[in-house]
Amino acid sequence: MSTSSISSIRGMADYLPEACEILEQVETAIRDVTDIYGYRQIRTPIVEKTDLFSRSIGEATDIVEKEMYTFQDRNGDCLTLRPEATASCVRAGIQHGLLHNQTNRLWYLGPMFRYERPQKGRYRQFHQFGIEAFGWTGPDIDAEIISLGTRLWEVLGLEETNLEINYLGSGSSRLNYLKNLKKFLKSRSAELDDYSQNRLETNPLRVLDSKNVTTQKVLEDAPEILDYLDVTERRHFDKLLKYLELTSINYQVNTRLVRGLDYYTGAVYEWKSNYLGAQNAFCGGGRYDDLVAQLGGSDLPATGFACGMERLVDLYNQTKSIKKRSGDIYVVMLGTAAENVGYPLAETLRRANISTICNCGGGDIKKQLRRAGNSNMLIAIIIGEEEAANGQLTVKPLRSGDQQLTVAQNEIINVLRLQLERETSFFR
Ligand code: HAM
Repeated sequence: MSTSSISSIRGMADYLPEACEILEQVETAIRDVTDIYGYRQIRTPIVEKTDLFSRSIGEATDIVEKEMYTFQDRNGDCLTLRPEATASCVRAGIQHGLLHNQTNRLWYLGPMFRYERPQKGRYRQFHQFGIEAFGWTGPDIDAEIISLGTRLWEVLGLEETNLEINYLGSGSSRLNYLKNLKKFLKSRSAELDDYSQNRLETNPLRVLDSKNVTTQKVLEDAPEILDYLDVTERRHFDKLLKYLELTSINYQVNTRLVRGLDYYTGAVYEWKSNYLGAQNAFCGGGRYDDLVAQLGGSDLPATGFACGMERLVDLYNQTKSIKKRSGDIYVVMLGTAAENVGYPLAETLRRANISTICNCGGGDIKKQLRRAGNSNMLIAIIIGEEEAANGQLTVKPLRSGDQQLTVAQNEIINVLRLQLERETSFFR
């Protein structure tokens, strides 16, 4: 049997304790903000039938063509690790009849999987926080969702978040635009990069998203989708922009903004940040009014966004609001009599909501205090033979540099509460 070590799968990261603590701070902000806006959580399985994604995201998209983790289970069913969760929310909503009652403002958080080329900000397992709302046709709900996102960035103290917005249109206006876009791109096809030449036939809108410099130059002369919107679409878009202005949300109209998934039918948007590098979009979404019917439900408008947690945490890490998390007490015990006092004391402290680690693995006082210093605890309680016999404890502050104190066992909780407040301000 091989004894070589096994590492994690490329593009799928471990979250070590410090990273988990930061992630939890972001997750707490998400829970608070979604709650304040009246959204309720939904959790769907990580694995779904492959059809769900190919029918919703679109056959001619990068995700469906080459990024899905698809496999057959033992029953021969074709399954896929979810690359996103909008389709799953729609599926669950139809299946459980959620969408027509009052449970139609939803949020979710969880792992997604895409077989992409890993780089900073782009992983094969990543996490999304998402919002989906079902049943409203007007731009009021889009504005509400955008305002929820904006509020979250504010709570997290993010410094630079640029909202770009566009309107894709649907039905005859989209068809008309696609016809003209295709005609234009064909007339300049020799100047397009290989990928765009390919997409020209299968999904011409995606060409607008090309990062290739020569293609981008060609696109400067391309027809603009906003010129093809019908009256209702134009009114919807203008009203949405008006709502954003009313709530002082800055935005920039970007007529080349298209999304990597095919289900969008109206307003689309992305938040980008220059602090992120090449993968600069950390949240994206928009309206997808046809998807519910397309997946077997009734005709029901829908809209939402999803935010990449890794990119969001990266931005949060660059703010000053990061709080490093500490624990409270490290109990140093020297000998059996000290242990007889220390273990019950630790339980008393934990019952009083004071987090406590008892020294494990023995050691002399020097060794135990070194371990205490290396832990993220704020105070050491030292129990030696003498303290155990006298009903006393030594309290040693680990961060402030304050003098150590001798405290009677029955006064310990009050003394610790005061000292912990002082130590916290020295923990960085
Ligand atoms: P998306 O633009 O494909 O949209 O993904 C949303 C966000 O997920 C991106 O802005 C990015 O931050 C993050 N993301 C995507 N792929 C990766 C990756 N490989 N590594 C790290 N982060 C990634 C959707 O998924 C739609 N379901 C959004 C939506 C919800 N539209 C309507 N409702």
